[in-house]
Amino acid sequence: MEAQIQIHPKKRAHIWAIGGGKGGVGKSVVSILLALGLANHNQNTVLVDADLGAANLHTLMGMKTPNRNLNDLISQKYDSIEEICVQTPISNLRLVCGASEILSYANPPLSHKHKIVQSIAHMAADHVIMDLGAGTSFNVLDFFLIADKPVVVLTPQPISIQNAYAFIRNAVFRRLSRMAQKHPSLHELVRMAMNPKNDSQIRTIADLYEAVQNSHGEKSAERLMDTVHRIRPILITNMAREQRDANAARIIQVVAEKYLNVQSQGVAAIPFDPLVEKLIAQMLPITALPKTSRALANATAIAGKLIS
Ligand SMILES: Nc1ncnc2c1ncn2[C@@H]1O[C@H](COP(=O)(O)OP(=O)(O)OP(=O)(O)O)[C@@H](O)[C@H]1O
Ligand SMILES: [Mg+2]
Repeated sequence: MEAQIQIHPKKRAHIWAIGGGKGGVGKSVVSILLALGLANHNQNTVLVDADLGAANLHTLMGMKTPNRNLNDLISQKYDSIEEICVQTPISNLRLVCGASEILSYANPPLSHKHKIVQSIAHMAADHVIMDLGAGTSFNVLDFFLIADKPVVVLTPQPISIQNAYAFIRNAVFRRLSRMAQKHPSLHELVRMAMNPKNDSQIRTIADLYEAVQNSHGEKSAERLMDTVHRIRPILITNMAREQRDANAARIIQVVAEKYLNVQSQGVAAIPFDPLVEKLIAQMLPITALPKTSRALANATAIAGKLIS
């Protein structure tokens, strides 16, 4: 049974988790751009490749295959995440490389995730940005849910908007199901509500609140709503090509609030930047982007807003 991942309330770095469901929307690119943006604001930043399936941040950063990675932390070759951090060519920015071998555990036991999260939370840094893998596996959702800056990346395409909504909905139910795990009848209700076509006509979190209120009382219903309200994602439309493309994240903002009672922490857009595409196609590092790059300039502005 999964337990709640807890972080000790010592002084700790701000944790960002960059997710968003389907592959190819730009989670890794946005992770790097935000990290470069934070470094531009003189913030001591660490990028963590938490894509346990296909670690590729070091390639995008133009760095050689590292000889230290997350697996060394889990296998206890090194004791602290600081030891597996490598300096990038950008001052203020370090990288923790991913480990594809972790995938062999399919869904690593909670103790492994716990170890990664505890180490990450206590890093000597102002900000830690985790680039998450594609999909909505428990790995991805658990890392997303522990972040204080959980970012959902989407593109302006309707299918991507749908995926982003499904990602947030899955995150909500993952958290609710962990909250209810010690209360079998409440857990069953949450599990049933997870099916969007359930027979009890529970379609929204407000419906679920009402159902819990009727069956378990006011206190349980309030606890459920508090749990949902603690999820405050930042919604970023990536690869926006025209002004109206930025509406994609705003649509999610409205729909997530209406159906899931989830309020966003912020909404932003990063433009499609041919320079980014060109660098990646030529296997050149994104760190070579000039500060005048539209995508980097936007990401730096977004990072500045989110830390102010
Ligand atoms: N702002 C941008 N401007 C131009 N191209 C971009 C931008 N963001 C992403 N791309 C393009 O999209 C591709 C996919 O981006 P990225 O690898 O970051 O996606 P991802 O969501 O991390 O995918 P995966 O889930 O497979 O890890 C990049 O190789 C690049 O060509
Ligand atoms: Mg990626």
